[in-house]
Amino acid sequence: MEKTSIHGMWSSRLAFILAATGSAVGLGNIWRFPYLASDNGGGAFVLVYLGCILLIGLPVLIAEIAIGRHGRRSPITTLAQITRDTAVSRGWTGIGWIGIVAGVLILSFYSVVGGWTLRYAWLYLSQLFGGDPITDPPAVFGALLADPGELLLWHGLFMGLTVGVVALGVEKGLERAVRFLMPALFLTLLLLVAYGATTGHLGQAAAFLFRPDWAKVDAGVLVAALGQAFFTLSLGMCTMMTYGAYLPDRVSIPRTGLIVGLCDTTVALMAGLAIFPIVIAFGLDPEGGGAGLIFTSLPLAFEAMTGGIAYGLAFFGLLFVAAWTSSISLLEPATAYLVERGRMGRKPAALMMAGICWVLGLVTVFSFNVWSHVRVLDRDLMGFIELIANDIMLPLGGLLIALFAGWVLRDGILREQLDGMPQWGFTVWRWLLRVLCPLLVAAVLINALF
Ligand code: PHE
Repeated sequence: MEKTSIHGMWSSRLAFILAATGSAVGLGNIWRFPYLASDNGGGAFVLVYLGCILLIGLPVLIAEIAIGRHGRRSPITTLAQITRDTAVSRGWTGIGWIGIVAGVLILSFYSVVGGWTLRYAWLYLSQLFGGDPITDPPAVFGALLADPGELLLWHGLFMGLTVGVVALGVEKGLERAVRFLMPALFLTLLLLVAYGATTGHLGQAAAFLFRPDWAKVDAGVLVAALGQAFFTLSLGMCTMMTYGAYLPDRVSIPRTGLIVGLCDTTVALMAGLAIFPIVIAFGLDPEGGGAGLIFTSLPLAFEAMTGGIAYGLAFFGLLFVAAWTSSISLLEPATAYLVERGRMGRKPAALMMAGICWVLGLVTVFSFNVWSHVRVLDRDLMGFIELIANDIMLPLGGLLIALFAGWVLRDGILREQLDGMPQWGFTVWRWLLRVLCPLLVAAVLINALF
């Protein structure tokens, strides 16, 4: 009989693909990817990023799902059990702990930005009923950031919606949420790319995104691209391990992993091709857009196009949805772990973790106003949290997962999970994990730290 997870199971292969894609596709693709490309010189960043996805992201993604399904528990419990069964150092359990800490840090700022998407969806909704148009997007965005009370409100609302789903559990909460929302998101992006094409600047945007200027690739670009590759695929913090734990045995891990990776990359590139034509068409500089890029550029297009208000509502509504299906996956691993410790039910566990993340989110909220003068390592406080969590902890977690799956785990365990994979594929995958991933990640991290 199939071993199942006590937290519930995905009902089908499609359910897992939607949930994992829902986790992967989020603010990372539509908010973060375009502005990182903008800040890091376009093509040079994008190509390094694509390389990282292919050579590091996909192998680690497959490893995480396989480890998760083997254990069928939260990452910490799964890792503890494997180390016990195979008599290796319990220290490997630390991967799970890195994951929980990274997840808490990421959710703390993710929810604040998720709150922005709610705020903007609301702005467009109220325009439908006669509210003021957004004639000066940078001013509107600036006013939002300057007001801690307002930011806290939307941050709280976003976090509340996240706990709501996680508290309901895997089938009734997570799976039900992603079923309709993900296809709708894809469609909206497609329409926005089509609009971008009508501006006549699609070619310029593509050139900006894909023409590499290798002279621009420095340590900073490498760190940003690697961190983004982990962030966008939800890797390095055991999210995919957790989702893998709920995956039925009959589903092929390599195949679904590839589908998830492909969908995620496609959405990021589409977001770039939707946003940069608009940026260029409105005479903005595609370089150095910063974290506000989509909030200050897209409203210009929405005001100019026919039906733009409904369109703006659809876009920010769906951006919220993308963020939502990702934030539930940020909360799930820690929640599952608390439930397994046996002292709490799912609801209080989810509520407690979300509460911690909400409070920590105050740092991000204040980084835009009362603490905006504070700089750590040349970044504002939110940028500093992103550096620690996304650019250092996720790659570090991913590095350890690669080493663990590459060198520590027995062949038998992995072969059992990846049984449909041809032998040559398995060998290539294993050596990527053993040598290439650790070397590349370590090189970038060491470069970044020193
Ligand atoms: N992948 C999500 C995004 O791109 C963010 C995320 C990171 C979610 C890590 C879960 C774990 O928005």
